[in-house]
Amino acid sequence: DLMEQIHGLEVIFGVQPEKLRAVVKHFITELNKGLSKKGGNIPMIPGWVMEYPTGKESGDYLAIDLGGTNLRVVLIKLGGDRTFDATQSKYKLPDAMRTTQNHEELWGFIAECLDAFLKEQFPEGVTGKLPLGFTFSYPCSQSKITEGILQRWTKGFDIPGVEGKDVVPMLQKQLEKKQLPIEVVALINDTTGTLVASLYTDSETKMGVIFGTGVNGAYYDVCSGIEKLEGKLPSDITSDSLMAINCEYGSFDNEHLVLPRTKYDVMVDEQSPRPGQQAFEKMSSGYYLGELVRLVLLDLHDQGFMFANQDLTKLKTPYIMDTSFPSRIEDDPFENLEDTDDIFNKELGVQTTIHERKLIRRLCELIGTRSARLSVCGIAAICQKRNYETAHIAADGSVFNRYPGFKERAAEGLRDIYNWKVTNPKDYPIKIVPSEDGSGAGAAIIAALTQKRLAAGK
Ligand code: BG6
Ligand code: GLC
Repeated sequence: DLMEQIHGLEVIFGVQPEKLRAVVKHFITELNKGLSKKGGNIPMIPGWVMEYPTGKESGDYLAIDLGGTNLRVVLIKLGGDRTFDATQSKYKLPDAMRTTQNHEELWGFIAECLDAFLKEQFPEGVTGKLPLGFTFSYPCSQSKITEGILQRWTKGFDIPGVEGKDVVPMLQKQLEKKQLPIEVVALINDTTGTLVASLYTDSETKMGVIFGTGVNGAYYDVCSGIEKLEGKLPSDITSDSLMAINCEYGSFDNEHLVLPRTKYDVMVDEQSPRPGQQAFEKMSSGYYLGELVRLVLLDLHDQGFMFANQDLTKLKTPYIMDTSFPSRIEDDPFENLEDTDDIFNKELGVQTTIHERKLIRRLCELIGTRSARLSVCGIAAICQKRNYETAHIAADGSVFNRYPGFKERAAEGLRDIYNWKVTNPKDYPIKIVPSEDGSGAGAAIIAALTQKRLAAGK
C-alpha cells in the first residue's frame, strides 16, 4: 500500500550522516584531482581574479547575468566605501532560447535587452564606452579574464556552435551590430561573482555558492596549490598569490562512485541532452527536482499504486513540473493538502486522493531534503581542503532563496557532517549567508579590479 511505498522512498532518498561524510571525503580527493596537471571530473577553473576587493573600488559598470532563470541587466555604481547601488531589469529568457539552433539569436536577445536598458537608464546617451562584466554561468575555460571558452552546456541548455568557442566575441559582435557603446571587460561565473560581491561587504566570506537551476561554488586558492597553472602564470604573479577558482562541482562524481543514486537519478541522466555529465547537479539542483518527483510518481502509477484510471497525458510530459511544483506542495498549509489537490487538478489534469497527496507531499520533502543535504557537501569539502574552521558562505539562487525549508535543511546537513553539538544554527562555525543578486555587483567589482590591474600596466 501507499504507506509502504512512502517507507521505500524514505530509504532510497534519505542521506544519513555517515553517507554525507563519505561523500565529502571523496569530494576533497576530486577537488584536488581537478587542480592537478592531469585534471579530473571537476574542472576547477582558474578565474584570473587575483585579488580580494578592497572595498574602495568605485565607478559605474554594467553587468549582465545569464545562466539561471532570468537574464539580468544591472547598472552598478560602486561607492568606494564598501557600498554599491544597483539598478536592475530582469528579462525572462524565452524557453525556446535554451535549445535554439542558431546561437546568434541568444546573443542578439542579450544585445536587445541591453539596448532597451540603456535607453531607459541613459535617455540622453552615453559618452565613451561603458565597461561590462559578463556573468555567464556555464563552465568556461579562461586563459585570461576577457575570455570564456565554453566547455559544455549545462542545465538543459543545448545550442549548437558554441561549445569549444570563446563566447565573448560572439556577444561583442551583436553589441557592435546594434552600435551599443559597451565593452566586455570581464567574463565571470555566477559563483565567482557572488564570492567577490560578498567579500566587498563581508571579509569573513570564504566561498560563493549557487543553489539554483544549477549547483556550484567558487573560492580562493593559493597559486602554488593550483598545480595545473605551473608555468602559465604571468611573471608579476607570485606562487603565494591567491586566485579565485570556479569549481564547477556540479560534475562531481560523474563516475558514480559515492553518490547515493536511485533509478530515477539514472533516468534523469539518461534522458538529458548530456548523459554522464553533472552527476552531482542532477541530484541536487533546481532544474531537476520537479522532474525527479514526476518520474517517481509515474513509476508508482505504472506499478499500480497511484492515479488509477486517470488521464496522465500531462504528467507524462518531461519537465512539466518545474521546481515551483515541489516548492508549492511543500508550502501547502492545509491538512487535506488542498493546494496540492488544486495543482494536480488544474495544472496536470489529475484527481488525487488524500492518501496520494500525502505521498506526494512526503516525496517532495524527501527530494528537497536530499538536495539540501547533498549540496552542502561541496561546502564542507572546500572548507576541509582549505582548513577553514569558521567561514561565511555567500549563497544565492532560486532554490536557496525560495524553496521552503532549504536553508534550515542545508544548515542541518552541515551540522551532521561536522557533528557540531551547538543547537542554534546561528552559532554554527560555518554559516551559509544570503547574498541575493550579488553576482551582478561581483561582475562590476571584478571589472573594476581588472581595469585597475590594466592601468597598473599588468
Ligand atoms: C541569481 C544570481 O540571483 O541567482 C545569478 O544573480 C545566478 O548570477 C542565479 O545565476 C542562480 O539562480 P537560478 O535559480 O536563477 O539559477
Ligand atoms: C551550472 C553551471 C555553473 C553555474 C551553476 C549555478 O552548474 O555549469 O557554471 O555556476 O550551474 O548557476
